[in-house]
Amino acid sequence: MRWWDLEGASSIRTIEKIVDETPTVRTLVFSDELFSEVLPGQFAMVWVPGINELPMSVMITEERGKAAFTVRKRGVSSTAMYDLRPGQQIGVRGPYGNSFDIRNGRILLVGGGTGLVPLMRLAKFAKNNDVTMLMGSTTKDEVFFEGLANRILAKNKHTVIITTEDGSYGQKGFVTDVLEKLVDGQKFDAIYTCGPEIMMYKVVKLANTKKIFVQASLERMMKCGIGICGSCCMDDALVCRDGTIFDGEFLSHSREFGHTHRSKSGILENY
Ligand SMILES: Cc1cc2nc3c(=O)[nH]c(=O)nc-3n(C[C@H](O)[C@H](O)[C@H](O)COP(=O)(O)OP(=O)(O)OC[C@H]3O[C@@H](n4cnc5c(N)ncnc54)[C@H](O)[C@@H]3O)c2cc1C
Ligand code: FES
Repeated sequence: MRWWDLEGASSIRTIEKIVDETPTVRTLVFSDELFSEVLPGQFAMVWVPGINELPMSVMITEERGKAAFTVRKRGVSSTAMYDLRPGQQIGVRGPYGNSFDIRNGRILLVGGGTGLVPLMRLAKFAKNNDVTMLMGSTTKDEVFFEGLANRILAKNKHTVIITTEDGSYGQKGFVTDVLEKLVDGQKFDAIYTCGPEIMMYKVVKLANTKKIFVQASLERMMKCGIGICGSCCMDDALVCRDGTIFDGEFLSHSREFGHTHRSKSGILENY
């Protein structure tokens, strides 16, 4: 691969619409032909002027030629992005990263929080699959994308299952509790996961034990997004360039997956 292929495109985009998904999560919609067509799992580097640049999965929209980012307010940068209003501008670089390998047959998507973003695009691409989507949240107020998931999967044989940790909506508990029961009782051809790494670690471990093909989309600290700075390294891989999607086979040999990640200054920290 040549370095200019890794660079992707770079543009300034105007926020056209904001959707409040939950009290802490918003979707920012903008017009962009290239980003409306990215592959499931690809991400962008998003510049919030005067603040910072953040890696963000590219969200689907139901309008042609439009793309979106769905952001949860956490620290300074994501809160600044969350606070953007229609008419304000962002810089968008990419698309970067590999994409999910969508196998035939019955597939299971397991997501938590904004980890659902790449899984929604995967669901949109899975036109001929029987899809079970397992969506985890802390509480009823923080459940989002349930209606959208049912709409984009309307033509598929599909099931959408919600779990909340406090039991205020859907099934009580963690997605991994429901996952165990599902894979014990039914046959799946592949599992795809994105969300908190501890959750993904359990999903990958269970899938590997049951010998089900599995892929996880990983998050690491990212600065360049194109394989230069090394801030996203995990074992011998660069998550931005070699991932963000990794197979269960690769992850089963990782010393870091599910155990450690690097801080902004590169220090190895435990989960
Ligand atoms: C490929 C990828 C896709 C992502 N997609 C989304 C998405 O769709 N929606 C969403 O809300 N968030 C997404 N994130 C996370 C997002 O990039 C930020 O990390 C998060 O919003 C917190 O940023 P902050 O600076 O506000 O928080 P901080 O207060 O700086 O940090 C909060 C936490 O985020 C981690 N973090 C901060 N900056 C980065 C960074 N540059 N890369 C990785 N981790 C970081 C910190 O280690 C800390 O644990 C994605 C991250 C990656 C790597
Ligand atoms: S973010 Fe710079 S190498 Fe991955």
